[in-house]
Amino acid sequence: MTSEALSNLSHEDRRFPPPEDLAASANVKADAYDAATADFEGFWAEQADRLDWGQKWDRVLNWDDPPFAKWFEGGTINASVNCVDRHVQAGNGDKVAIHWVGEPEDDSRDITYAQLQDEVNKAANALTSLGVTKGDRVAIYLPMIPECVFTMLACARLGAPHTVVFGGFSADALASRVEDCGAKVVVTSDGGYRRGAPSALKPAVDDAVAKLADGEHAVEHVLVVRRTGQDVAWNDDVDVWWHDVVDDQSTEHEPEMHDAEHPLYVMYTSGTTGKPKGILHTTGGYLVGTSYTHWAVFDLKPDTDVYWCTADVGWVTGHSYMVYGPLANGATQVMYEGTPDSPHKGRWWEIIEKYGVTIFYTAPTAIRTFMKWGREIPDKFDLSSVRVLGSVGEPINPEAYVWYRDTIGAGKTPVVDTWWQTETGQILISPLPGVTEAKPGSAMTPLPGIDADVVNDEGESVPDGSGGYLILRKPWPAMLRTIWGDDERYKDTYWSRWPNVYFAGDGAKKDEDGDIWVLGRVDDVMNVSGHRLSTTEIESALVSHPKVAEAAVVGASDEMTGQAPCAFVILRETAVEEADEPGEGADLVQELRNHVAKEIGAIAKPRQILIVPELPKTRSGKIMRRLLRDVAENREIGDVTTLADSSVMNLIQSGMSGSSDE
Ligand code: WTA
Repeated sequence: MTSEALSNLSHEDRRFPPPEDLAASANVKADAYDAATADFEGFWAEQADRLDWGQKWDRVLNWDDPPFAKWFEGGTINASVNCVDRHVQAGNGDKVAIHWVGEPEDDSRDITYAQLQDEVNKAANALTSLGVTKGDRVAIYLPMIPECVFTMLACARLGAPHTVVFGGFSADALASRVEDCGAKVVVTSDGGYRRGAPSALKPAVDDAVAKLADGEHAVEHVLVVRRTGQDVAWNDDVDVWWHDVVDDQSTEHEPEMHDAEHPLYVMYTSGTTGKPKGILHTTGGYLVGTSYTHWAVFDLKPDTDVYWCTADVGWVTGHSYMVYGPLANGATQVMYEGTPDSPHKGRWWEIIEKYGVTIFYTAPTAIRTFMKWGREIPDKFDLSSVRVLGSVGEPINPEAYVWYRDTIGAGKTPVVDTWWQTETGQILISPLPGVTEAKPGSAMTPLPGIDADVVNDEGESVPDGSGGYLILRKPWPAMLRTIWGDDERYKDTYWSRWPNVYFAGDGAKKDEDGDIWVLGRVDDVMNVSGHRLSTTEIESALVSHPKVAEAAVVGASDEMTGQAPCAFVILRETAVEEADEPGEGADLVQELRNHVAKEIGAIAKPRQILIVPELPKTRSGKIMRRLLRDVAENREIGDVTTLADSSVMNLIQSGMSGSSDE
């Protein structure tokens, strides 16, 4: 964040106290903070008691061997039983679990908890028939269709950890994830609907399967849901249709209780190196952390609320706050397949009106898009049902926050700005809607039971009014347990900067009242439309192109997407000659952008690629990304005295006018 933005924060004096009725009936009140501080383990044990356990735990937290935590040690639990069966047993079988809305109009399906139970059990039986047993990994590459939830819960039921790969990732990105976690089954579909048209998924799976066929991690089966009816290539050796394998299965399935620390899923996320990290979440603590925070932060009243989280299931938000948290709490929720502008720009608001959505959770990048489209669009719909609004994924600028509160929340609905990460599994810093007097743009306070702070380089707590690194001092139930297959990397990445302190890359400021303002990443990770991308990963993708000699990528601030990748590329000699031909440069830039999309996915396509003769480097050869960011953000170039060759920046800047920018 720029110093200008920082100083703007100190001018922010708008305050939004909780609505009185909400405060009076809130699930969690102010006393929770003190209760959790007075008895940390007792507090989490109480939250764990909200769930059904096979065997109760012996010990709430085992932190004898940090940073390897064990929560609810000795306990046994089944996530799918908690998300499904127990609600049916409690007499809520007829209650709608999911109002599923397909992108094509009139394509919707209401799924009750009883139906969900049948579907999960059938999917569990089907996976078993394909040879999946406890401990096996299953990759899921599906659009936002109900089968995705059925499969995740079926895996959880069997104790077969799933790894959901976002449908926007390329075949190569899918293959590397399937390979890293050694998934033996991939569940996919012919395609899904996006922006009014069917968009294929299976071809990417076919490529990934072919790529892995001769290796150690060959995929045994691909289970394919027919969603769009698109033509698909078929490989009889591995491919099976969902309707052939799942539909006739029994709706009965006897669940096993798994150890509280049994792996639930692996979610890949970008780090500061090229190789994505498989973040491992386990069962008991994860379910406690996500269900408690979902109930507390959104003040969920399961009997009356209709909840909607717009996140794609391919990201952690879709796991924690669309699948596990809400379903463990017996919520009724909306799940929508498509984009917000299909078939018209009011689609989301139409859905809120139709289902009477009361709690709505989305990302700042979406809010900024709606701001641009204009409030006339949401104003056409009846949004009066909404009583809590949430934001996640990136810092929300105060203007977007206030617009959200005013336009979607009728100027009176609390907005909870929730800070967390793939690694944290659960929300850690957020207002409580019935307690906190919120400030637009601030995530405010660590939740009850969470020990977060802002520290300086020495790891010392900074005084109010100063900035530093956002850290956690105590473990929390839904924390990651390790990086799949790489304990050392887990220690190095998160716990090595200060002893037994968790740090995962964000800078933050404590204001004069001690409230926390998350400023964004201080490492080489950027946040594009709420999606995490690593600069190094995009650089490696660029360098893997035969015409590229060297590349540097920076995340430049972008009005719509928060940040956008901008690349500076040095070409190989032969390609330089080609690019010098009139018109060739633009083609080449397009070729490189497409190459990045192929290697990683369309979300990683650089907004801008600048072909440069040199990159700014220090004498020790380190690329000075700070200077490149100045260029990409059209700013005056900062201090260049540490550059090995200070004329480089002139060369780069003069090239800027000829750059291809789209
Ligand atoms: C950023 C998404 C400011 C942050 C749940 C974090 C936020 C990264 C907020 C994690 C917020 C998330 N305010 N920044 N409320 N929420 N972030 O793993 O930089 O996709 O480290 O998890 O998003 O992104 P991830």
